[in-house]
Amino acid sequence: MPRKLYIAGNWKMNTSLAECAALTEGLVERLGDVADVDLAIAPPFVYLQAVGRQVQGSRIALGAQNMFYEDNGAYTGETSAAMLKDVGCCFVILGHSERRHVIGETDELINRKVLKALADGLTVILAVGELLEQRQAGQTMDVVRRQVQVGLEGVGVAEMAGVTLAYEPVWAIGTGETASPAQAQDVHAMIRTLVGDLYDAETAAATRIQYGGSVKPSNAAELLALDDVDGALVGGASLKAEDFAGIVQAGRDVP
Ligand code: PGA
Repeated sequence: MPRKLYIAGNWKMNTSLAECAALTEGLVERLGDVADVDLAIAPPFVYLQAVGRQVQGSRIALGAQNMFYEDNGAYTGETSAAMLKDVGCCFVILGHSERRHVIGETDELINRKVLKALADGLTVILAVGELLEQRQAGQTMDVVRRQVQVGLEGVGVAEMAGVTLAYEPVWAIGTGETASPAQAQDVHAMIRTLVGDLYDAETAAATRIQYGGSVKPSNAAELLALDDVDGALVGGASLKAEDFAGIVQAGRDVP
């Protein structure tokens, strides 16, 4: 089953209000009509509503970099799925390595968020990936397997239509280092097999798995051409409209 490419920009804690408006304008100009690739951006929370207005009428989807699993109440500093939907978000990135390793989120916490996002009608990009020392210790597959397994605990087969997985080796994020095509393909293939074991062959074939970690226009083609790589989750290079568009073009050019 051919899977439609899905390329998402994770802006992290970057841009001022003015920069964010200019970046969005550049993206809408270059990519607003692209229909053969699914495109998405995740700006900082405080700019979501403004960016939402700018991307309205374009094909660029708006999403958030995180959320909380309760509806409302005394959760200082948190944001609910309903709030995200209210300002035009349709997806949320969960389990990003910076949430796991800088903020300290566990697989179990991430799972609660995944379940709530799906229940409330957001699609999810669930990010997974090993640390450098885990790769060096030969633990990559075990670590990623656990993150996928626990992250998806309780997610039904029908709900999997709303889940994209993103493999992001932590040592390749923001470092300029990229997994080699063989390293990326190996882990992506393992994840797809795992989805098949957890669900069924049809779900495994339909689930998109993005690669993330220093993806840029110059290396996007070789990564996006891999059998089990169905898109990219882009950090640094998503902060320049030209670079993000270059990655999208590289994907569109894959034969
Ligand atoms: P990077 O970040 O492209 O800057 O390496 C990717 C990510 O963290 O999603």
